[in-house]
Amino acid sequence: MYTTNLLNFNTMHISAESKGIIPIYSERGLYEVLVKGNKPLKIIGGGSNILLVGDIDAYILKNEIKGIHIVDEDEDEVLVSIGAGENWHNFVMWTISQNLGGIENLALIPGSVGAAPIQNIGAYGVEQRDSFHSLKAIDLTQGISKLFFREDCQFGYRDSIFKKEAKGKCFITHVNYILSKKPMLNMQYGAIIKMLEESKINTPTIADVADAIIKIRTLKLPDPKIVPNTGSFFKNPVIEKKDFEKLKQSYPNVPNYVVDADHTKIPAAWLIEKAGFKGKRVGDAGTHKNHALVLVNYGKATGKEILEFANDIQIAVSQKFEIDIVPEVNIWES
Ligand code: EPU
Repeated sequence: MYTTNLLNFNTMHISAESKGIIPIYSERGLYEVLVKGNKPLKIIGGGSNILLVGDIDAYILKNEIKGIHIVDEDEDEVLVSIGAGENWHNFVMWTISQNLGGIENLALIPGSVGAAPIQNIGAYGVEQRDSFHSLKAIDLTQGISKLFFREDCQFGYRDSIFKKEAKGKCFITHVNYILSKKPMLNMQYGAIIKMLEESKINTPTIADVADAIIKIRTLKLPDPKIVPNTGSFFKNPVIEKKDFEKLKQSYPNVPNYVVDADHTKIPAAWLIEKAGFKGKRVGDAGTHKNHALVLVNYGKATGKEILEFANDIQIAVSQKFEIDIVPEVNIWES
């Protein structure tokens, strides 16, 4: 058992007590905890996508299952199994070292491998579901091991079955990805091409793309080790085409991504900035000066203070644009 305080287990650096933090190093270790009957249980990975609002009346299972293994391969692809407690960025760097393509655009995303499918993490035109094969999880309510294939996971934009009916019930032990020995680069984001041009790279490799993305992210996003944060705090809202056309009349340059014929995604960062919240600070809660979507803890903010600040942003955006933005981070209220 580690300490009972979660301060060093969440990247927003919020102090909150729990009933105890239990490291889980193997499936066997988890079964031993289940047999003991400690309840209730909550699962934590890298702690980079949670906001702790008050003390947590639960035992916290800290996923420490490690290891990266090649399970199968042919001349084109490799099936890799990763312990869900591995750090996501370290895993991305491992794929680069093996020259295996698929997730290089997801470099420097904070968090654990086990959290990647829960959030269906994504960046720069790529989502983890594009390379996802399957995952193994232990159902905490029944104590049995289950395999989820891609079609079982209901992946959506920052969404999966693990945020819906399976929420909090499944302890993910291993995630399996299919990676390519003949990588196809995904450079649809102008920022990547620009960065590669600046570095005078004409025929980029996956290592060059990962490098460019690391540079882009480092330039605009705060390092949680220096300025505590949880990455994007809200999801980018998807609005109906008719509402988008209306918005465009007032803001002809509104940035947008077409989702389908009837829907458009608007960057929440833009809405928040236009609502006057970029770089704003109330006490120790604030938005980052370089990126309005990143809420930060400037010192000793409590989870409640950050949540109140987030609510103020939601109200301001709703009043100005009649668009609701919802948190991407998981709010833990007890
Ligand atoms: N923008 C502003 N003000 C700002 C920042 C951005 O107006 O302060 C506008 C700009 O027009 C910019 C647009 O918002 O072009 C989009 O910004 P950015 O490219 O930084 O992406 P994002 O929509 O804010 C999403 C993901 C990120 C991912 C990036 C890059 C979500 C919720 N977030 O952010 O994922 O890294 O795209 O692909 O979808 C995360 O989920 O934690 C995360 C970091």
